[in-house]
Amino acid sequence: MEATGKIVAVRGATVVGETTAAENFSVGSYVSIKLGESKILGVIASLELASGDTVRFTANLFGKSSGGRFERGTEELPYPGAEVELPSEGELDLIFNTYRRFDFALGEISLLKGKKNYIDPDKFFSRHVAVVGATGSGKSCAVASILQKVAKLPGARIILLDLHDEYGEAFGELAERVNIGEFELPYWAMNFDELVETFVDPDDPAARSETVVMSEIVLNSKRSKNPSYKESTTVDSPLYFDLSDVKVKMQALDTERLPNGKEGPFYGNFTRFLFKFDTKFNDKRFEFLFKPKKFKTTETFSQFLELLFGLKSGKSIVVLNLSNVPPEVTNALASLLARLVFDFNMWNPYRANLPILLVLEEAHNYLNMRSSSQTARRTIERVIKEGRKYGVSCMIVSQRPIDVAESIMSQCSNFVAMRLSNPDDQAYIGKLVPESMTDLLDVIPALKQGEGLLLGDACILPLRTKIDPPDPFPKSKDVDFYTKWSILPPAVDLENVVERWRKISY
Ligand SMILES: Nc1ncnc2c1ncn2[C@@H]1O[C@H](COP(=O)(O)OP(=O)(O)OP(=O)(O)O)[C@@H](O)[C@H]1O
Ligand SMILES: [Mg+2]
Repeated sequence: MEATGKIVAVRGATVVGETTAAENFSVGSYVSIKLGESKILGVIASLELASGDTVRFTANLFGKSSGGRFERGTEELPYPGAEVELPSEGELDLIFNTYRRFDFALGEISLLKGKKNYIDPDKFFSRHVAVVGATGSGKSCAVASILQKVAKLPGARIILLDLHDEYGEAFGELAERVNIGEFELPYWAMNFDELVETFVDPDDPAARSETVVMSEIVLNSKRSKNPSYKESTTVDSPLYFDLSDVKVKMQALDTERLPNGKEGPFYGNFTRFLFKFDTKFNDKRFEFLFKPKKFKTTETFSQFLELLFGLKSGKSIVVLNLSNVPPEVTNALASLLARLVFDFNMWNPYRANLPILLVLEEAHNYLNMRSSSQTARRTIERVIKEGRKYGVSCMIVSQRPIDVAESIMSQCSNFVAMRLSNPDDQAYIGKLVPESMTDLLDVIPALKQGEGLLLGDACILPLRTKIDPPDPFPKSKDVDFYTKWSILPPAVDLENVVERWRKISY
């Protein structure tokens, strides 16, 4: 291959070069620099006119090819005067086919038509991945597309928290769909943190004593209802207890008079708690949680897990649709469901053969550092930290990555970064990826719909990738206003609307 330029300066992993054949150079294209028998490979980061028809460019070095092998990173650096070439087709194939043996690609490399971006799927799925991008950038489509690629694998186990009922049809027969609002999710499957999140208002001045008293009542109720587990029972054990015990005992304390006629120590302290408790307990929308009909005994717990996670049906994907649950409990339920997946595998001695991917859509809603409810964040932090040991990994999907706790995002080894227009979000992602890659993030605001920058240890290089369109697409919530307005709509059945509203029937 003929030299088309030469290196004039070397600054660590960035080199400056000059060329008179600038028509072959563009930002994002590749160069190959001779170093003895090896070639150092770089990607062009900037171009500027130097003098006459000489163009000066900078390139970030990313790897080395020698003896028919490509390796990422390079300790050897070129020297000023070294010849710069455009890599041959064969050299490019050497790079991009590094992971071809897995035959797993998320899409085509945007700047290299016809070349797939092969990745290492073991690393991609087992080390936590984040899919980020502004609303409408194509995250849900990317998630559907990625999962459709693995859904057919006979042993795949994926649990997806679907907050907006988008994925019901996306996987056809390969997925089990559980509508959480209709499915029973018994309150006693919650751990104590989740119960507190559901019943105790952190702004209530009595919140601390409510928490302490409630923990005693729950523990005692669990012990008395489950004598055979008495020794090992904790307030977090997945054992049946009677929720009305909480009400009866706290009511007694709230109105207690001591033998001398004086007020008891908690007199009047729990009135606010009890009012809220009653409101929720009698709300029809919460029946699936507080008034279980099927799962009313400790013995039903395994049957509950079997149905919830589709263990019997053997489907590879379980879509847990949370769109119909009251928003007040979405966070507690996200925590409960994620924790059940984690705890299940933690206690499963065969977990090495049952790795589970937990997909958390709209994660900024419940993994937010600033929100008053922190249960889900704490749970996911634990899953993220310990998941590898127990064969559980997470796919965090968010349109506001800056609102997802850094403790969670910083543990992701791979990123699918779709278009992000908010500078704060861009800067946040910049903080999470290695410094040598931050230049590449400049493309993020300019990505097209359905295009993502793939970064991380599962990818041979950070590459702009046109994610394969999913088939079928997830259900887009977009309503085409103008198109809808252009035709006469059917008459509104007002009575039906009002009736559903009153009966809280979705
Ligand atoms: N890979 C793709 N191929 C073709 N079209 C796509 C692709 N990705 C996204 N789109 C189009 O973009 C639209 C929005 O995509 P999507 O619903 O995935 O966005 P999103 O990032 O999940 O948005 P939100 O944050 O609001 O949930 C889709 O309805 C689809 O028309
Ligand atoms: Mg989406």
